[in-house]
Amino acid sequence: MTDESDISADDWAKALTAAEAGPEDDAAENSIRPGKLDDVVGQTRVREQLHLLLESARRRGSAPDHLLLSGPPGLGKTTLAMIVAAEMGVSLRQTSGPAIERSGDLAAILTSLAPGEVLFIDEIHRMARPAEELLYTAMEDFRVDVVVGKGPGATAIPLDLEPFTLVGATTRSGLLTGPLRDRFGFMGQLEFYTDAELATIVHRSAAILEVEIDAAGADEIARRSRGTPRIANRLLRRVRDFAQVRSDGSIDAATADAALDLYDVDILGLDRLDRAVLNALVGTFGGGPVGVTTIAVAVGEQSDTVEEVSEPYLVRTGLIARTPRGRVATAAAWRHLGKTPPDTIPL
Ligand SMILES: Nc1ncnc2c1ncn2[C@@H]1O[C@H](COP(=O)(O)OP(=O)(O)OP(=O)(O)O)[C@@H](O)[C@H]1O
Ligand SMILES: [Mg+2]
Repeated sequence: MTDESDISADDWAKALTAAEAGPEDDAAENSIRPGKLDDVVGQTRVREQLHLLLESARRRGSAPDHLLLSGPPGLGKTTLAMIVAAEMGVSLRQTSGPAIERSGDLAAILTSLAPGEVLFIDEIHRMARPAEELLYTAMEDFRVDVVVGKGPGATAIPLDLEPFTLVGATTRSGLLTGPLRDRFGFMGQLEFYTDAELATIVHRSAAILEVEIDAAGADEIARRSRGTPRIANRLLRRVRDFAQVRSDGSIDAATADAALDLYDVDILGLDRLDRAVLNALVGTFGGGPVGVTTIAVAVGEQSDTVEEVSEPYLVRTGLIARTPRGRVATAAAWRHLGKTPPDTIPL
């Protein structure tokens, strides 16, 4: 039996929080994932660009150019990679930067690709350098040089690859090296979604999950989804749980509101980390300016996480600003925390 005293209140809260996903949620996420370009909501620009890229490749009967998708977590990078393969009628091989430890791992994958296959490398900015260098000739000439032996006797054996399409995904396109970035024929930057787009996604997902929801209920969930479809879908599932247990199972604004309050999702949709960052910035550092590493230490997170996950959304909602001297809380941030902003803000 688990000794409950071993589990801190914070762990409990974490287990319950809408930001955490369980296995049931992973399965649900996959069932909700759009499978065709036409089912993708929002991202109009990237969608149109991708449509042209794929359609022209189809007409030429060749593999589309390598493409790089970047943007914060949960905006649809993996989804679009899967769609590229599906639209081209080919299979998808999936790996990730951190999983490729040695260049040999990557060579093994590349040499086993079938003609036209899509290779999806998630978190491509975290790939080891030797593997990255192997990718250069693979992307450009569909060839890898496999080194056999060690020391002075080592020889490089060139191996031809089948034509393939590399789809890279990254939350930090700025961390990609120039040579790698230059080898992508297309770069799509995914943007946060508008509330209206998120409401459309919520309606679509509710239909798949066979949950009844009215327009006001979907709007309420959309507004608190942090501009992110993954969060919208997750909040929908939590509101559904609430509606099924506490009422007749259908979702309106009042159920959505009550459920989201219970799950501690505030009216701007800020999650635990977002709020911790804001609290540190305003409470501990008097509104800034302060470096992101310092903020990260104060909230007990890695600075990468703060920079990739929290900051883009806080900047987008105008709660924090980036200045040359560090991050600064805007007047809106002070007010959101129920505090009076100082007379001058060092922007
Ligand atoms: N444009 C969209 N329209 C509808 N649903 C979407 C869209 N984009 C993403 N989703 C939904 O959001 C979920 C998360 O998307 P996805 O896994 O593609 O994000 P990601 O960018 O790969 O995130 P991460 O960086 O964490 O890997 C998917 O299960 C999908 O259902
Ligand atoms: Mg992904």
